[in-house]
Amino acid sequence: MARTDRDRWDAKHRALGTGTSAPPDALRGHLDLLPSSGRALDVACGRGSVAVWLAGRGLDVVAVDVSPAALAAGAELVTREQPPGRVRWVEADLDAGFPAEDDRYDLVVCQRFRDPALYPAMAAALAPGGLLVVTVLSEVGDTGGAFRAAPGELTAAFACLEVLAHREGDGEAHLVARAPA
Ligand SMILES: C[S@@+](CC[C@H](N)C(=O)[O-])C[C@H]1O[C@@H](n2cnc3c(N)ncnc32)[C@H](O)[C@@H]1O
Repeated sequence: MARTDRDRWDAKHRALGTGTSAPPDALRGHLDLLPSSGRALDVACGRGSVAVWLAGRGLDVVAVDVSPAALAAGAELVTREQPPGRVRWVEADLDAGFPAEDDRYDLVVCQRFRDPALYPAMAAALAPGGLLVVTVLSEVGDTGGAFRAAPGELTAAFACLEVLAHREGDGEAHLVARAPA
């Protein structure tokens, strides 16, 4: 990622400040699928809303983002909410690939960051039986654009997984899928 893009994300996150914890959007209505323990990876975690919420549910979370301001806001949110689980904040540019490629997770979340080149690595990061939870901007219900997923993109990209929930509309696509046990 270009330095100017990173600075732009940093400025945006700094302006927004510390947020509040929240479940991943794709998991709403499917919270029974969430593992009650284990390791989670939040890809492009932003200001850590989802990562801290997952830690509050007892998961040990690795949260990755390119923006130091976003990670600082996430760390601040941990001190406010004092979740029982742990969050490790990792500053990394995902354009350079997945950090810690040998790690496996019981849950991989990626919300509102779309890079189809990373889809195989996200699936490969799942432990046996692990859960993938993805939300991306979609062309479905929107006028389209360079950053939006085409209809069916997520189910096609993750055909190697068992799809538990999938919906597209209002400009977003959501997927919940499980790796083979
Ligand atoms: C729209 S925000 C979504 C944040 C969070 N997942 C959420 O749902 O609130 C997109 C995030 O992707 C991060 N990002 C963009 N490009 C990145 C890259 N190449 N590597 C790592 N993070 C990146 C930004 O810093 C930002 O936090």
